[in-house]
Amino acid sequence: MRALVTGGSSGVGRAVAVELSRRGARVMATARRRERLVELGSHNAAEPIAHEAGDLCDPAFRDQLVATTVERLGGLDLVVTAAGGGAIGPFREADARTFLQVLDLNLVAPAELVRLCLPALARGRDPAVVFVGSILGLHPLPLHAEYCAAKSGVRSLAGALRLELANEGIEVVLATLGPIDTEFWDALIAGERPSWSRGRPLAPHVAARAMLDGLERRRRELTPGWRAKSYALLARFLPGLIDRFAARQI
Ligand SMILES: NC(=O)c1ccc[n+]([C@@H]2O[C@H](COP(=O)([O-])OP(=O)(O)OC[C@H]3O[C@@H](n4cnc5c(N)ncnc54)[C@H](OP(=O)(O)O)[C@@H]3O)[C@@H](O)[C@H]2O)c1
Repeated sequence: MRALVTGGSSGVGRAVAVELSRRGARVMATARRRERLVELGSHNAAEPIAHEAGDLCDPAFRDQLVATTVERLGGLDLVVTAAGGGAIGPFREADARTFLQVLDLNLVAPAELVRLCLPALARGRDPAVVFVGSILGLHPLPLHAEYCAAKSGVRSLAGALRLELANEGIEVVLATLGPIDTEFWDALIAGERPSWSRGRPLAPHVAARAMLDGLERRRRELTPGWRAKSYALLARFLPGLIDRFAARQI
C-alpha cells in the first residue's frame, strides 16, 4: 500500500500516518511544519515515513506534492485528507477572508489534491480516498458557520465522487469525526474554543485505528467513537434536540 496523508504533523493525520506505516504501508506525510514531519519520519514505525512540507492551499505545492509522492512511492493507492482547521464566532463579526480560508483548507484544497491524484489512483491497487469530515457536516452548530459549511461540503463532495469514481474502481470513504484530542482548538483560523464544547475526546490513535479498520473492511462511512456515533444518530432522528441544546449554550 502506498499512501499520501495530509495533516501529518499533528493529530489525526499524524496518527493515521503512523498506523498506516505500522501496518506495512509506504507513507508520504505532508503539512507545513517541516520539523514535525522530520520527527515523524524518525518514528519507530515498520516503514520509514517520507515527507514533503508545504501549504496545501497553494496550488503549486499541491502539484509538486503529488508528483513527488508518485515518484517516491512508485505509485499511489490511498489518499487521506486529514489537514483541516476551524473558525469559531458569530458569523456577523467574521469576514470574507476567514470564510474563504476555512473553505479553502477544509474543502477546496483536499478536493483539488484528490483531483490531481486521480490518474495515479486509477493505476493503483485497490485505490481509495478517505475524506476527513466532521459531525458538524451532518448537522450544524451556531458559531461554527464557516466550518459547518465546509464540512457539509466535504460530505457532499465525497458522496458525488463515490458514484463518479466507482467505474474506475476508486473507493471514496468519508470519515465523520467527533471530538478528538488534537491541536485543533489551538490552531483555529479565527476565534476561541467555546467552553461548552469541552468534553472527553477520543485519542487520535484510537480514531486512526478505527478509520483504517473500517477502510480495510471497505466501509464507506467511518464514524469512530461513541460521541460521534451518538451525534450522527441525533442528527438523523432528533435534530431538534441538538438545536435546543445549542440554543441554550449561546
Ligand atoms: N479534533 C477534532 O475534535 C475534530 C473533530 C472533527 C473533525 N476534525 C477534523 O479532523 C482533521 C484533522 O484535524 P486534527 O483534529 O488532527 O487537528 P490538528 O491537530 O490541528 O491537525 C491539523 C493538521 O492540518 C495541517 N494543516 C493546517 N493547515 C494547513 C495548510 N494550510 N497546509 C497544510 N497543512 C495544514 C496541520 O499541520 P501544519 O500546521 O504543520 O501545517 C496539522 O497537521 C481536520 O480535517 C478536522 O477538521 C477534527
